Amino acid sequence: MGSINGREQWSGRLGFILAAAGSAIGLGNIWRFPYSVAEGGGGLFVLIYLIFVLAIGLPVLLAELALGRTSQRNPVGAFKALIPGKFWPYVGGLGVTTGVGILAFYSVVAGWTVGYLGKAVSGELLQAQDGETSNAIFTEFVADPLWPILLCGLFLLLTLVVVRRGVSKGIERAATILMPALFVLLILLAIRAVSLPGGIDGFTYLFTPDWSKLSLNVVMGALGQALFSLSLGMGAMITFGSYMSKRENLWQSGIFVAIADTGIALLAGLIIFPALFFANADPSAGPGLVFVVLPTIFNQMPLGALFATAFFSLLAIAALTSTVSLLEVVVAYFVDEKGWTRNRAASFVSGICFALAVPSALAFGAVSGLSGGEDGILPFGLDFLTLNNNIWGNYSLSIGAFLICIAVGWVWGVPKLLAALEDGDDRRFPMPGAPVVGFLIKVVCPLAVLTVLIFIIVTGQYF
Ligand code: PFF
Repeated sequence: MGSINGREQWSGRLGFILAAAGSAIGLGNIWRFPYSVAEGGGGLFVLIYLIFVLAIGLPVLLAELALGRTSQRNPVGAFKALIPGKFWPYVGGLGVTTGVGILAFYSVVAGWTVGYLGKAVSGELLQAQDGETSNAIFTEFVADPLWPILLCGLFLLLTLVVVRRGVSKGIERAATILMPALFVLLILLAIRAVSLPGGIDGFTYLFTPDWSKLSLNVVMGALGQALFSLSLGMGAMITFGSYMSKRENLWQSGIFVAIADTGIALLAGLIIFPALFFANADPSAGPGLVFVVLPTIFNQMPLGALFATAFFSLLAIAALTSTVSLLEVVVAYFVDEKGWTRNRAASFVSGICFALAVPSALAFGAVSGLSGGEDGILPFGLDFLTLNNNIWGNYSLSIGAFLICIAVGWVWGVPKLLAALEDGDDRRFPMPGAPVVGFLIKVVCPLAVLTVLIFIIVTGQYF
């Protein structure tokens, strides 16, 4: 671990890459991506998502890293330091608020992964021989009024412990162990899933665009997913960039993180959809999709209980490296801007997130008003968790990404962005397509996001 002017730094390029990939790779890839694909009708969603990752995700990722490294500040401080005008720090403020909003539902699902780890160890998951039994196990688990809250609390406590230890000791170390192990396990599971009877149908579903499915919701969902999965639009990458030394090459690191994140999402799809067709499960299973479908493939594997245990342990750790980055954004704000100690900020923010998470933890049967559907009290017939997932995970990130593009492309300016990206470039790796990135940030990204948002407002098709 290094420290410059009292501010911590990653121990080196690998430390940063692991931590940033750890932030990006999480429930977004393995839980949210598959169910968004299912809701978006399969291959078409995947295609639009991939286009957004390339045309919007990658440039915004580079812009956030550049803002962070140049300013060495949290999102609010970065805008204050670099972008003239009273308005811009509020964009950082929106990011910090979004961090709390996302953490407050993400930690609930993260708690479910710990619950499923328990079920894998106890052997209960081996009873899930088919889609129906597996669904029954999930439904009963999430409808419990106590366990989901306790597990969410436990998860936030773990996040707090890591964040309190600080950037490099806590965050880096967790990511170093996880990433390679998760990757190997996902490849094994994907091989098993694709070779199941019906496996090829899942493959086809994932990669064949059905244009009749094209709708505003699919486009918005894919945009939100591209940003959510790469941890963009709320300053997480500004914050992580701020712990980067000037020596590192931002291009290489950014591109690596984007490829790793997208690859893991596609791998997760290659596991879930073949398994879904095999188990005859319902593709519209919503947030429960992964939890319902996965146990059925563990049951088709030798040493299934062992695989299930390994999988849910790794998924929980992947979620942890992401919750850590969410909490870190908010903590960095209180530490840099308000002068709080890291300990105080981390404890306070995780406490608030826990309180805000309780309604999401109760939204799957425990409290019927929060569960969506006919007798729900919430708009659009959505459950509380899904509503928050859409508001913070799609809308808030998209608005944040739009404003970041305007700030960087038009106020800070493309020449400064490119210079910041090149800083520390050892020239072994020429920057391919630098002018393209400038054009994407300045014109394509803001225009694309704005068009989607305007269409949504005009047509009123919010969710
Ligand atoms: N990218 C994380 C995932 O895919 O699970 C979620 C996330 C983390 C979103 C950090 C936003 C963020 F700032």
